[in-house]
Amino acid sequence: MAAMSLDKILQSQGFGSRKSCRAAVEQGLVRIGGQIAPDWSQTYSTEGLELTVGSVSIPFREQLYLAMNKPSGYECSSRPSHHPSVLSLLDDLCRNRNVQPVGRLDHDTTGLLLLSDDGAFIHRQSSPKHHVPKLYHARTARPVDAALVSAMLQGVQLHDEDGPLRAISCEQTGEHELDIVLEQGKYHQVKRMLAAAGNHCTALERVAIGRLYLKDLGLASGAWMHLLPEHRALLSPEALS
Ligand code: URA
Repeated sequence: MAAMSLDKILQSQGFGSRKSCRAAVEQGLVRIGGQIAPDWSQTYSTEGLELTVGSVSIPFREQLYLAMNKPSGYECSSRPSHHPSVLSLLDDLCRNRNVQPVGRLDHDTTGLLLLSDDGAFIHRQSSPKHHVPKLYHARTARPVDAALVSAMLQGVQLHDEDGPLRAISCEQTGEHELDIVLEQGKYHQVKRMLAAAGNHCTALERVAIGRLYLKDLGLASGAWMHLLPEHRALLSPEALS
């Protein structure tokens, strides 16, 4: 990994403008591997670098890959219109790095949301061409029956789509509950498909993306974490084949 000057390293990690990062070093607020850094122009190899600014310590991360347990009442937009943005639940370091949600969940949908500042990762996870399955748990207003499950699997025609949209799988899990797997992420897709099939979605949670399950991450509602390499492996094309 390339060596970089300390001011650039700090800026790349979200600690603010180059000017404010230089000022932090000059004030003796920055430690590298536990030692006060003497000079912002000094270069360091970023591999395995541990940085401390004031009371905040982080490992150098070239890119950010986050998972959040999205609560209801938040929008997946950086310019929300009616509810706060999911980005407001992150810390300043992540927000300063321009982390973006991978696809969108409705404001009232809960569950697994990925966020990243890696454009190629965002594209791979959200493009239907890459067939990343997303598992949703839906509650319905009226009881689920075999006709509903069959319609979701055969395909339902939504008024603004060229052809029918079908679920990759659809299983009844309770009188008013369904597990639905989709590979696309069209606007309100689960809710619109259930409505077109004659029912109404009253609650929706995304419980897995690829082979990454929310329940295995131990995230409380509204909490988020940095994905570990083993978590990212569960999202890779190899894990899906
Ligand atoms: N389908 C929906 O209807 N809403 C979501 O938030 C996600 C999938």
